[in-house]
Amino acid sequence: MHNGYLSQTTEKRLMLFSGSGYPELADRIADRLDIDLGGVELRRFSNGEVYARYLDSVRGSDVFIVQSLCEPVNDNLMQLLVMIDAAKRASAKRITVVIPWYAYSRQDRKTKPREPITARLVANMIQIAGAERIMAMDLHEGQIEGFFSFPVDHLTAMHTFVDYFVEAGFRDAEDAVVVAPDTGEAKVAKRLADHLRLPWAILNKMRSSPHASEVTHVIGDVAGRRAIIIDDIISTGGTTVRAAERLIEEGATEVHAAATHGEFAGPAYEKIEESPLKEVVVTDTLPLKAGAPQTKIQTLSIAPILASTIRNVFTDESVSEVFMGENQLF
Ligand code: R5P
Repeated sequence: MHNGYLSQTTEKRLMLFSGSGYPELADRIADRLDIDLGGVELRRFSNGEVYARYLDSVRGSDVFIVQSLCEPVNDNLMQLLVMIDAAKRASAKRITVVIPWYAYSRQDRKTKPREPITARLVANMIQIAGAERIMAMDLHEGQIEGFFSFPVDHLTAMHTFVDYFVEAGFRDAEDAVVVAPDTGEAKVAKRLADHLRLPWAILNKMRSSPHASEVTHVIGDVAGRRAIIIDDIISTGGTTVRAAERLIEEGATEVHAAATHGEFAGPAYEKIEESPLKEVVVTDTLPLKAGAPQTKIQTLSIAPILASTIRNVFTDESVSEVFMGENQLF
């Protein structure tokens, strides 16, 4: 007879699942964690509805769902919500969504009357579906963290880029400069410049429409230097290509670009191929389009960062340790 209670020592269980957005990235994370991805049946009915069912019990598990919100963005988002709901109703102990590329993150405020704040709407949907934690890489603005009322692991690819450019001989180079393609990226450019011990410059970008922009001012010394443009995302490629053209006009000897998220929408691949850019370095938060011209594109994997973060969250260890204390860049 027990004294009014039953006791049991339970084992914690981490289960990792992938949506159909970018399963190759989830495979890379699973490899690093040395586990298999969990089985989940994902279907899309002929009327367009999506469906998800876990093939094994997730009861009491620490469930991590990897879904990059790549194209088709809205289908992948809906599938993620359905996967969260299924895990919740199957009594997962905690559900963490791993969203390397958080789509809609640039719609984070009203810039004109009668606009939505869709980044906030997406956060609400994820929360209402039942997630309790989110991991995302280099959000467009750090304030997006505040759209969630649960823990956000805001990760950065900064160290991945630093390692790449150190290896490429940029640290302490007397003929190099880091460039922010707009004032929004100034802080990040300064960070990269500090790590590489280089000077930095800022371009002032004015947008006349969502798809058209021009560089109005170049602040800093770029003539005679190899420039590294750093940004969070390359979408249509307009910002990066126009920045590269202007830097060459101002006397830069060559232009490299680095961005965490290579969305490469519309004619971006072709635009980059034809541009004066020497190379474009992105991470694998998003898949590249098969068959598109990409001779200048280098991809660095952020799977090791995501795997270490998932491991530390599971074992209740520090996440900032994974980034040497530097994951709050904004
Ligand atoms: C803007 O604030 C962002 O940081 C990017 O510079 C921009 O969204 C990139 O978009 P696109 O490649 O279409 O110019």
